Amino acid sequence: MQIPFEVFREPAVMRARVEDLRRDGRRIAVVPTMGALHEGHLALVRHARAQADVVILTIFVNPTQFGPTEDLSRYPRDEAGDLAKARPAGIDLAFCPPAAAMYPPGAQTFVEVRELQQPLCGASRPGHFAGVATIVAKLFHITLPHLAVFGEKDYQQLAIIRRMVRDLDFAIEIASVPIIRESDGLALSSRNAYLSAEQRHAALALSKGLAAAEALVKAGERSAATIVAAARAPIEAESLARIDYLELRDATELTPITDRLERPGVLAMAVFMGTTRLIDNRVLRP
Ligand code: PAF
Repeated sequence: MQIPFEVFREPAVMRARVEDLRRDGRRIAVVPTMGALHEGHLALVRHARAQADVVILTIFVNPTQFGPTEDLSRYPRDEAGDLAKARPAGIDLAFCPPAAAMYPPGAQTFVEVRELQQPLCGASRPGHFAGVATIVAKLFHITLPHLAVFGEKDYQQLAIIRRMVRDLDFAIEIASVPIIRESDGLALSSRNAYLSAEQRHAALALSKGLAAAEALVKAGERSAATIVAAARAPIEAESLARIDYLELRDATELTPITDRLERPGVLAMAVFMGTTRLIDNRVLRP
């Protein structure tokens, strides 16, 4: 039976509603987001819809995952527009708390996934993943899901959340949805809206680099240096692009693969186009 759509703002009220639904035997899925929804988020909602009786979308621009030089106030916010997109995709409930409800004065407890949070985006954005793990843990406690759905574009985030769930014994299944791309290969991201037409064109170098590396691996190449060089080449050829990192790492532990690709690896990159930082990745299986 369909439940009436509602937007919750208070953690305790949201949790009480989910406790009722769980008592009725409903299977709950949560899709955590920071809003600014695009097709990539809607794919997460559709995946959740197919797997659960009740789908909860959370929209919360989480201050603790922004660094001091990152502009939290500039992050796009359009709750009404987001809900108008998410409802036809299949959400039943939304949780959109104010910051004060999630971080009351004196809040000082953080979840850290010590090693997985260090490399890649963690090196460029210190504290980011502690903010992510903490808010996701809180959202899990508030929405009490059986299933939570995340995108594979934030590969490191997904690895961290999976590890947190395992290490802290959350009884939650984590599902992931592959990266959704524009027809020309650009990975969908809320940040694409910041790109000029020239930067948007130059940004295609990221997916070209990943495709070139993947083609080499399919052709039998195993040298990590050669694979990484193939991915770097199209990006370095773009004068508008500046590589933050581009690395081949173990697909589960995120440890560096510097010699030969003999196990699944993730080729992960962050590239600046002006002040806009884009990320992309591909899992390479030898
Ligand atoms: O991927 C995001 O949008 C955010 O990092 C998340 C998981 C919603 C936590 O704020």
